[in-house]
Amino acid sequence: MCGIIGAIANANVVPVLLEGLLRLEYRGYDSAGLVVTNHGLQRVRTTGRVTELSKLVAQQKTEGFAGIAHTRWATHGEPSERNAHPHFSGEDSRIAVVHNGIIENHEAIRLHLRNKGFEFLSDTDTEVIAHLVAFNLRQVTDLFKAVCMSVAELQGAYAIAVMEEAHPERIIAARNGAPLLIGVGKNGTYVASDTSALLQTTRDIIYLEEGDVAELNSHGYRIVSCLHNQLGEAVHRTIHESNLSNEAIELGPYAHYMQKEIFEQPSAVANTLEMVLNAQSISPNLFGSEAEKIFSKTNHILILACGTSYHAGLVARYWLETVAGMSCNVEIASEYRYRDPIADENTLVIGISQSGETADTLAALSYAKKLGHQHNLAICNVPESALIRQANLRFLTRAGPEIGVASTKAFTTQLASLLLLTVTLAKMRHKLSLGDEQKIIAALRHLPVALQHALQVEPQVKIWAKSFAQKRHALFLGRGVHYPIAMEGALKLKEISYIHAEAYAAGELKHGPLALVDSEMPVVAIAPNDQLLGKLKSNLQEVHARGGELYVFADADSQITQSENLHVIRLAEHAGLLSPILHTIPLQLLAYHVALEKGTDVDKPRNLAKAVTVE
Ligand code: G6P
Repeated sequence: MCGIIGAIANANVVPVLLEGLLRLEYRGYDSAGLVVTNHGLQRVRTTGRVTELSKLVAQQKTEGFAGIAHTRWATHGEPSERNAHPHFSGEDSRIAVVHNGIIENHEAIRLHLRNKGFEFLSDTDTEVIAHLVAFNLRQVTDLFKAVCMSVAELQGAYAIAVMEEAHPERIIAARNGAPLLIGVGKNGTYVASDTSALLQTTRDIIYLEEGDVAELNSHGYRIVSCLHNQLGEAVHRTIHESNLSNEAIELGPYAHYMQKEIFEQPSAVANTLEMVLNAQSISPNLFGSEAEKIFSKTNHILILACGTSYHAGLVARYWLETVAGMSCNVEIASEYRYRDPIADENTLVIGISQSGETADTLAALSYAKKLGHQHNLAICNVPESALIRQANLRFLTRAGPEIGVASTKAFTTQLASLLLLTVTLAKMRHKLSLGDEQKIIAALRHLPVALQHALQVEPQVKIWAKSFAQKRHALFLGRGVHYPIAMEGALKLKEISYIHAEAYAAGELKHGPLALVDSEMPVVAIAPNDQLLGKLKSNLQEVHARGGELYVFADADSQITQSENLHVIRLAEHAGLLSPILHTIPLQLLAYHVALEKGTDVDKPRNLAKAVTVE
């Protein structure tokens, strides 16, 4: 949550800062602000979006050779100009700070600094950093040292960039628990929360490590690690050449990133499966060189995740039990981290996260390790993320950057990877014959085409979307492995259309939610032609008999026909194990088109953010 960027160059950096903020807006969009040095620190802040900030900057003709900027997802303090970053400290020579993360001990530091005479003008934890740096600067008279001393006092997660009015020729950046990278350009040096913000200037990227503090000037940088020493020791960090394409982060011909990302799913899944599509068999090495050794000892799986990634874990549980005969628990990370679960050294802990930054998922994995779980596997879409760095085993989904806040292609690529894991474990446990493995590989080869086919229901979904947009509530029903898909469909609808949507295992309907059914409560059902279809049909009858209006996504061979108050969109014939992946597509399209009908901000739904780096 929150995006930060800093730039110091031989030319005016304001366009770079604004373009970078636009790229980072997915991380939060409650307010935006920047500071540049031009005969002193000039600050512009707004409660609007980055486009609003751009207008203000143009009106005020703000320019400068060095600056830091921020787009906010409010944690401490309402979204207001007063609480927008950058935050200042000092009057004669001001300090400016932008921050992503949460300072957990901000209250204690605030009290201490108030007693020293510092005046606080905002409700944010970030302002504490500005004053702390200013306070330490009185002792060491060098901003770099003052930041090193200050970060040693901070508890929590942060990525920060700091400037000092008296020395505008440098920016100090520090990272601990939130991503931060340096861009090494020909005409300047940059720092940002992610690569997409820096592609406009350079592809030479340095990923800062936990505890790193960096000094940037227009012709270079230096980095020290403050992990073990308050004033740091110089460290070398490798420069990586980013191969992120511009198309991957551009909207292109699409109206929204979510639309683009829904339609990218055939290629995103094909990229994720690339290693196996040309292979004759699926090997444990896909998950890392140690995977075979670890998998051979694994007798239980524990999946930890949040949001859409949690739903992917729930689907995987059915696959792991049915195909690999492996017991599996799936836990919401924010719950797991505060329970007293029993650890078992033969359990493989899997963290699933598109961003690899989700604070609860990272904390839950660390907690699992502390409890005694030896081995973990990260399934993630961001190669340099904290999740990938801390895992023993890893599988990178190759969905490409997902920018729309509602996760789509990250989910289906997570499912594709979890199916590969299932097949790998099933083989190792002698639960899968060579013939069956070949059949699954053949089905996976066909998956991108099948996804393309599923996308073709869009015109029919658009018609349904018109009536959904008039409703205030909706129920989603599924059974078995499609129950988590119903949960994902409900989540998509509520996230971006603000319609209250709940998913139920269809068998639970009569235990409560049936009381809600009337003509104003659309009921969406996922009806694959699997072994539970007969049971599901009975549940649908229960709704129909009570005057409920049913919207059913049925496999072509499910034999459900349209009638009064029973609307049916037919997909292809039942796809076996791949069915949950394919049934996801029309639900994403439904949420997208209902949101369009309602005119909501599809890519930036209210109150949400893409990377949730706070508890
Ligand atoms: C946020 C995002 C969701 C995502 C969830 C977990 O709520 O808006 O799309 O599913 O975080 O994120 P992760 O990056 O861990 O998958």
